[in-house]
Amino acid sequence: MMLLLDHLSKAYGRSTVRAVKDLSLQIEDGEFIALLGSSGCGKTSTLRMIAGFEAATEGSITLAGRRIDGLPPAQRRVAMAFEGYALYPPLTVEDNIGFGLAAKPGFDPRQRVRELADLLEIGPILKRKPAGLSGGQQQRASLARALARDAELHLLDEPMGQLEPQLRAILRGRVKALTKARGLTSVLVTHDQTEANAMADRIAVMEGGVLQQYGTPTELREQPANLFVATFFGEPPMNALPAVVGNSGLILDGDDNTHASLPGVTLPPLGTPVVLGLRPHAITLGQGDWAATVISNRWLGDEAHVALDMGGRLIVVVAHHRIAARTGSVIPLGFAPRDLHLFDAKTGQALMHGVQTLSSQTSFTERKSGP
Ligand SMILES: Nc1ncnc2c1ncn2[C@@H]1O[C@H](COP(=O)(O)OP(=O)(O)OP(=O)(O)O)[C@@H](O)[C@H]1O
Ligand SMILES: [Mg+2]
Repeated sequence: MMLLLDHLSKAYGRSTVRAVKDLSLQIEDGEFIALLGSSGCGKTSTLRMIAGFEAATEGSITLAGRRIDGLPPAQRRVAMAFEGYALYPPLTVEDNIGFGLAAKPGFDPRQRVRELADLLEIGPILKRKPAGLSGGQQQRASLARALARDAELHLLDEPMGQLEPQLRAILRGRVKALTKARGLTSVLVTHDQTEANAMADRIAVMEGGVLQQYGTPTELREQPANLFVATFFGEPPMNALPAVVGNSGLILDGDDNTHASLPGVTLPPLGTPVVLGLRPHAITLGQGDWAATVISNRWLGDEAHVALDMGGRLIVVVAHHRIAARTGSVIPLGFAPRDLHLFDAKTGQALMHGVQTLSSQTSFTERKSGP
């Protein structure tokens, strides 16, 4: 293991509010992880504690077997690309990137600077100073400076947020390949789940300073630990339908008594309030025993996004083919039990992911009778 964060917390000043709460995380040697979460969830605070620019209020940080949380930043062997770039104004981009790199037999710092400049498409600005550069150029210079360094850990705080989507997509692949080729251990901070998915071996989802789940992109998608991760991760978000466990399935909240019958499925005890989670891709249109009214139907060139009203509930469905349904029409819809997620309505904790049924004839019926 390369980095161990053990019960790390951060409170700023005399505040009793924790920006980071009891965070424990392990990162393996050569692993690329992402801290993913919304603005203010504690991502930068976590990085700054690891790099040594903020003191941890509680907990410990161990890097390559060394306790580092008491050390000054310069002794931690950590390189960081800052959210605010923090370039040295009197130095050219070239000297910023190469700062502190010493020539050694078999290692030419100028060559590393050149390679990184090519990789990040900033070759033409190497002789210029930061003051005359655009935000995106400064950001790439800052990223290059962090990647140029030999360190036991590379921390990258929103390193590509200023770039246009096309360039960002290209650089993601290049930066990931570079970190793997050099065997770097890296922590990327981002609020962009596409970026986290594209780059990270594992993703730590944070909210309100609390780690929600730590796992591979596939684990987060297929087995979200709670309703927060389930609805935060995935685009468009998972449909979340409040329901209660009935005799042979789920009774969805609302006045129309829409029912999902799940014969043979072991559900939580009768009467348990739950939330039924269905990803937009998991709902089929044109078949199934539910019915809903089409609100909008957009073809995006490679997939269809359809919004529907089912008894006052908004349902979003994504299909890989065109859906022939006009706004206002009523169409059937359904799902396969293997695609359902069930959450405890009170705690948000996941109760089950997917159900294997012996028969494929599980049906979904809309109960017409009142309660
Ligand atoms: N120096 C500081 N003094 C007081 N509070 C701070 C300080 N820095 C951050 N905070 C607070 O700590 C919380 C976490 O901030 P942090 O910068 O870690 O969030 P973040 O996840 O990086 O957000 P963003 O995506 O906007 O960069 C926020 O509520 C923020 O207001
Ligand atoms: Mg931040």
